[in-house]
Amino acid sequence: MYAIECRQLSKTYGRGRRARHAVRGLNLSIEPQQVFGFLGPNGAGKTTTIRLLLDLIQPTQGEVYIFGQQVRRNPAAVRQVGAFIEGASFYPYLSGWDNLMVFGRTFGAFDTHRAHELIEAVGLKGREKDKTGKYSTGMKQRLGIATALLHDPPVLILDEPTSGLDPAGIREMRDFIRQLARDQGKTVFLSSHQLSEVQQVCDHVGIIHQGQLLAEGEVATLLKNASNPQLTLEVKPLEQARAALIGKWAVQAGSGPDRLVISAPYEDIPAIIRALVAADVDVYGMEHRQTSLEDFFLSVTA
Ligand SMILES: Nc1ncnc2c1ncn2[C@@H]1O[C@H](COP(=O)(O)OP(=O)(O)OP(=O)(O)O)[C@@H](O)[C@H]1O
Ligand SMILES: [Mg+2]
Repeated sequence: MYAIECRQLSKTYGRGRRARHAVRGLNLSIEPQQVFGFLGPNGAGKTTTIRLLLDLIQPTQGEVYIFGQQVRRNPAAVRQVGAFIEGASFYPYLSGWDNLMVFGRTFGAFDTHRAHELIEAVGLKGREKDKTGKYSTGMKQRLGIATALLHDPPVLILDEPTSGLDPAGIREMRDFIRQLARDQGKTVFLSSHQLSEVQQVCDHVGIIHQGQLLAEGEVATLLKNASNPQLTLEVKPLEQARAALIGKWAVQAGSGPDRLVISAPYEDIPAIIRALVAADVDVYGMEHRQTSLEDFFLSVTA
């Protein structure tokens, strides 16, 4: 059974000429304990999807299931999810602690021990009695995560959990999310613009663009199959090298003298070296750059 599943999920805002198709025919199947990164440029439909997953807005079409329970027909399904959404707000005149308490009580019970643990885990210890109106963006972000975890849900849905955090905060959040999945078996669905972070934290990603899912899968597999990993060669004489390779590989001029850049899969490296040696070219250096998630994202959403 999937932790989160959506089938043919669509959301159109407005009607007629004003209609905006924010999400179009989205299918996702997220396994329990997966850390899934949901990526897309601004306006791609990430927050809309998250609102749909949480049953905060009604889909134009399609269904969402949490552990097999359809969220539309079953409010209990959403209780298995802790969420933090873009622009989530707190009562500014209440302290972080009191905000947590208000939130906890709306879920039935407030566990002080757990709240203390979470305040500590998200790095707000010592500041929990301050009014949230005086919190920085990053502190609100941290409190938001604590709120999402308060009722200990098996699924976490986080809209840009690292936005507004400083580099140390981003690293802490990354470690925290990893630990939630690994040690507590939580399923995490997060949207983000921080591609290098996502690459480090998520085992699966989906890329959404203009409301449609363009790519989805295990990060390592997606990157391995991505086109155009780049090979930079330092060779002499340059023209001789170019002549030996052209026609078989896409050859571009590299930055600096005696450098060529070739787009070629990893498996082609020996053949490239052999072709150069056969043409009496001297090879001084070679660097193979694996496609990063950022390269992949930019090529898919270009
Ligand atoms: N309440 C709304 N009414 C009308 N259009 C909306 C509404 N909310 C979002 N949209 C539109 O739907 C599209 C997707 O928006 P969404 O907020 O889901 O994008 P996003 O991927 O979260 O972007 P970002 O990275 O900037 O947060 C956008 O074109 C947006 O203008
Ligand atoms: Mg958004």
